[in-house]
Order: sequence, then structure tokens, then C-alpha cells
Amino acid sequence: MNSLNIVILAAGKGTRMHSDKPKVLHSLAGRPLLQHVLDAAAELAPDNICVVYGHGGEAVPQAMARYEAAFVLQEPQLGTGHAVQQALPQLADHSLTLVLYGDVPLIQPITLRHLFNTPDALNLLTVKLEHPTGYGRIVCDEAGNVKRIVEEKDATPEQRTIVEVNTGIMAVPTRLLRTWLSRLSNNNAQGEYYLTDVVGMAVQEGIPVHTVQPVHQWEVEGVNSKMQLASLERVWQRTHAHQLLEQGVTLADPERIDVRGKLMCGRDVEIDVGCVFEGEVHLGNNVRIGAYSVIRDSHIASGTHIEPYSHIAQAEIGDNCRIGPYARIRPGTKLHNGVHIGNFVEIKNSEIAANSKANHLSYIGDTTMGSRVNIGAGTITCNYDGANKFRTVIEDDVFIGSDTQLVAPVKIGRGTTIGAGSTITRDTPEGELTLSRSKQLTVAGWKRPVKEKK
Ligand code: UD1
Ligand code: CA
Repeated sequence: MNSLNIVILAAGKGTRMHSDKPKVLHSLAGRPLLQHVLDAAAELAPDNICVVYGHGGEAVPQAMARYEAAFVLQEPQLGTGHAVQQALPQLADHSLTLVLYGDVPLIQPITLRHLFNTPDALNLLTVKLEHPTGYGRIVCDEAGNVKRIVEEKDATPEQRTIVEVNTGIMAVPTRLLRTWLSRLSNNNAQGEYYLTDVVGMAVQEGIPVHTVQPVHQWEVEGVNSKMQLASLERVWQRTHAHQLLEQGVTLADPERIDVRGKLMCGRDVEIDVGCVFEGEVHLGNNVRIGAYSVIRDSHIASGTHIEPYSHIAQAEIGDNCRIGPYARIRPGTKLHNGVHIGNFVEIKNSEIAANSKANHLSYIGDTTMGSRVNIGAGTITCNYDGANKFRTVIEDDVFIGSDTQLVAPVKIGRGTTIGAGSTITRDTPEGELTLSRSKQLTVAGWKRPVKEKK
């Protein structure tokens, strides 16, 4: 194949989104629409990618800065043909130019590759629609050869009955595109420079026009409204859920899982309803995720069960752990094998060694914990003095009684037992019972106060 240029049109306003954010930066499955298109484009290994932006100003190039693409401003926006004209200085003559759209996010590389089969022709991606209203129609002669594209607003009533429509996506020899674009006029119903007019020019010059259809119709659906965004989100989620099922993951309901990033699963993984996975999440063999859990950028190793309503972010969890229900595991947490974290326990920036347990109502922050530690209900590491954070060290085989505060920096020596209700401010000796608790006393004959009668 010739070398490949890709132009992505992304200058439009998106009025119907009713949003201050540029349309192409709205999220689908956790990524901006334009990012989906850039990712699909990158899979085709093009020589260059050029994004034409306009509305929203620098927000678009800024949001996509990590992509190797040229960003050219189209200001004002005078139509799709005018938009591609802005990209021409970026394009190499002996190449094919593929035109994509920042608001058509689910286009698949497999479909696009079909547009490269005849690189000397103009290759158009078209679809037949039951309701073609609003789209440019593909006008053919009696023999079925494409003659031109006519926009809805310029079409005769008879042309409006045509059901084959232009998706807007095309692959054109760049040299030809350049000459055709220079001859566009805006003498049409919308006063715009139509990219679609190049089709008629090709026909006049005897350049073959080939049409190709997408593998799935949703690949060419655009986003102009929140309704269309939501509907494509469902398409993406369903497609992804079906892939997980095919890999052998058990989903309680493939309609009730949301993956906003990448979810990688081992064998015999079970995921209950309502779970959200964000960023990159790895689940080992035999992992079970309980209902309504939210997991972001984490590794969860084999045999671990996450009970319902647990939130886990940027954490590494070992084998055979039991987490939740209602656990919150925050960034920087590393749990070794066999750790139990129960309900209403929050762990942040802490490492917990094998077989330790914090089963109820605790806050463990900035802590290094050994093995076989038992943290009683209501234990709190006081890691923050209002300005600075300090670490708590809890060595192996410690038993912390309920409702204890550990005021960091502090070290609880190996084998220490802490009596319930203690506030520990100094390091504790190994193997001893330490407690800080005033002695229980009884005031004999004490009476509760009563309201005075006036
Ligand atoms: C266009 C096609 C139509 C096709 C339809 C598919 C033309 C003239 N018509 O019509 O045949 O059926 O798409 O959806 O091409 N854009 C810019 N700069 C501009 C104008 C548009 O970047 O000056 C971008 C928009 O952001 C949008 C895309 O191009 O992503 C399509 O523009 P839009 O105005 O929606 O074209 P349609 O009228 O829908
Ligand atoms: Ca449109």
C-alpha cells in the first residue's frame, strides 16, 4: 500500500450536546470520543495523523497532547471540504488520505482496511439506512456506478428516497484530493464547501469510485446529542461484555457491567451486577467481584473475593484475600496474600503483610503492617497533624484492641497486645501488653441531674 495520511475532522460545535465542553472531548467508555478515533487511526500505522480542530479552541489539542498528531485550526468552519483543505499542508502527495471524524468514535480498523484495497480509486464508506433523513445520499447511474453525493438539503424529493448514504469516511489518493479541493465551491443550500463534491469530480475525471460497507452499522454512527452518546456507550459496553463472556468470564448480567478502560481476567472470574472498572484492571484466576464494586487501576490476584460495594483504586491485592463488603482501598495500598479487610475499613498508602486482618470500621493510612496482625474494630491510625503525614509501623503478630488510636509516628513492636480503647503515642515493647486507659471507677450514690421546676 501507499503511505497513509489520516485526517480527523473535529472542528464542529456540537450544539445539541448543550455543553461548554467541545463535543469530541465528551467521554465514551472513559475515553474522549476523539481518543477512540485516534486509537483506531494509530492501529493503521499511518505516516501522519492530522486533527482539524476549531470549536473549544486549544482544549482539543491540549487534551490529546500525548498523541503524535498535527493539530491544525479551522477558523471559521466553512464545511467539511474546507476542513480537509486546512490539513493539506500536512499531507504527502504520494500517499492515500483517509478522512475520519472525531465524533464518529467506534469506527474499527478492520472496516477501514477495506478502504485501502483499491488505492488508486476514491473509496467511500457507505451504509444503507432504513431512515436516511439528514445524510448525504449516494446517487448512482442505472448500472449502479456512483455518480455523486447529494446532501439532504440539496436533494430532490426523488433523491431523498435513496437509502444508501454517505458516512463521510473516505480514502482518496492525496494528489487527486488536493486538486479537487482547490476547485470546491460553496454554491449550495448550506453555503458550505462540501467534501462530498469530490465524488462528482472523480467521476468526471474517470477515477473509479468504490463503495465499502462497515462490518457493523454502529461503527459509522456519529454523536450529536447526549442520547446518541448514551446509545453508543451501550454498544461499546455490550460489545466488551460479550468479549469477556467469550473469554470465559462469568457475568451475572452482561447488560450491567461498565468497563471504562481495560479489564484483563484470568480463568473462572465471576463478576456480579453493577460493577464499574476504570483504567487498567487485572483480575487473577478465580477472582470474584461482588455487586456494585468500583475498581480502578488495580491488580487483584488469584482466589481473592471482593464483596459488594467495595471501592478499590491503584491498589495491589494478593492471593486469597477477602475484601468488603463496603471496603475502601485507596491508592498506594499493597495487600499480601490472605489479608482480610472488612466492612467500613479504609486503607490508604499502606502495605499489609500476609494473613493480617482489619475486619471492622477502621482507618489504616501510611502504615507498614506485618503478618498475622489483628486490628480490632474502630482502630484508627492518626497519620496527620494538620500539616504533615507520619507513618505507623505495626510488626508481626500484633493484636490491637478495639477503638484504639495509634498516633504516628509510632511503632508497635512484634507480638504487642494493645488493650482496647487505648491512645498509643509511643513505641511499644515486643511481646508485652500495652494500654493507655484510665482505671474504671464507680461513684457510689451518684444521681443524674433533673430539670429544676420553675
Ligand atoms: C456530512 C456529509 C454527509 C454525510 C454526513 C454523515 C458533507 C458535506 N456532508 O454531513 O454527506 O452523510 O456527514 O454524518 O460532508 N466539520 C468540521 N469543519 C467544518 C464542518 C464540519 O470539522 O467546517 C466536522 C464536524 O465536526 C463533524 C463532521 O465534520 O464531525 C461532519 O460535519 P457535519 O456538519 O455534521 O456534516 P453533515 O451535515 O452531517
Ligand atoms: Ca453530522
